[in-house]
Amino acid sequence: MRLPGSGLIFGLPVVLDTNNEAVKECDKVLLKYKGQNLGVLEVESKWMPNKAREVKDCYRTSSLEHPGVQMVAMERGKYYIGGKLWGFELPKRVFPCATPAEVRAMLPAKQDVVVFQCRNPVHRAHYELFTRALHAPNVRTGAVCLVHPTCGPTQDDDIPGIVRYHTYEVLKAELGNANIKWAYLPYSMHMAGPREAIQHMLIRKNYGCTHFIVGRDMAGSKSCLSGEDFYGIYDAQNFAKEHAAELGMQTVPSADVVYTQEQGYVTADVAKGQGLHVKKLSGTKFRQMLRSGEDIPEWFAFKSVVKVLRDHTQQST
Ligand code: ADX
Repeated sequence: MRLPGSGLIFGLPVVLDTNNEAVKECDKVLLKYKGQNLGVLEVESKWMPNKAREVKDCYRTSSLEHPGVQMVAMERGKYYIGGKLWGFELPKRVFPCATPAEVRAMLPAKQDVVVFQCRNPVHRAHYELFTRALHAPNVRTGAVCLVHPTCGPTQDDDIPGIVRYHTYEVLKAELGNANIKWAYLPYSMHMAGPREAIQHMLIRKNYGCTHFIVGRDMAGSKSCLSGEDFYGIYDAQNFAKEHAAELGMQTVPSADVVYTQEQGYVTADVAKGQGLHVKKLSGTKFRQMLRSGEDIPEWFAFKSVVKVLRDHTQQST
């Protein structure tokens, strides 16, 4: 988790992989994406990575039952290449992804900026998390929140980035809150739990954020065979806290929040302690309800968000 030479912390390696046998050191390679010329790489090194070691260190497991391990082992090429990069232009995207400089320019310079990372549509529990975060004990009055979802490809059963982008835009319009800013991150989740928390903080620091919201089971994943969790519910949160000072950021941790009949959203501990009635709706059940046209309770999701998701679900079935 350290860069060679400087020893600086770095959450997950960002690599350029290839199966091309012909590429060799000293070559100049044109980097293209969907027909667009993005830049030139002057190849300084090409090597066959030790993927078993890489995944064990990054994902804490080398099991192919982990989606990130599968990606490294089966989707990435055999070789990694490195070298000097010359960029021509940014990739054209189907929705706008403001650059770090653009995001920093839309944030207040002297206030705390609390960032909320997510890879799912924003539901009520998420909303509770980021609105409460503005009043956290370590956040100064006058802070703003940046909702900064990752919109790259994620897990197979996650909702596509472009659809989520539309859900965020309708919610942004509905909330109309000047203290809540929105921007989109062109990043694909690795589901690496603790290591991924570090990666996200590092990226968000670059986008001008001072505080990072981290809840339960952040970037967590389950075995595709047994359904068992790879990380403990607060592993990512604790790891993020441990390394926050070194990253020059603070965390705004949240315990697991649940919806109760009596008191609305409270932490799971409070619900348990007071014997409150907890209502639950799993992601799988939610998607099923979207498809069947059943009413989705408003304590779970915003109506405007549900409408976008429902239109998409019905179009794609
Ligand atoms: S994640 O991959 O970044 O974890 P997700 O969209 O599921 O994406 O969650 C976004 C953030 O909200 C994460 O920090 C996660 O821990 C937090 N979170 C989501 N639901 C809850 C909840 N019910 N209680 C506490 N934190 C939550």
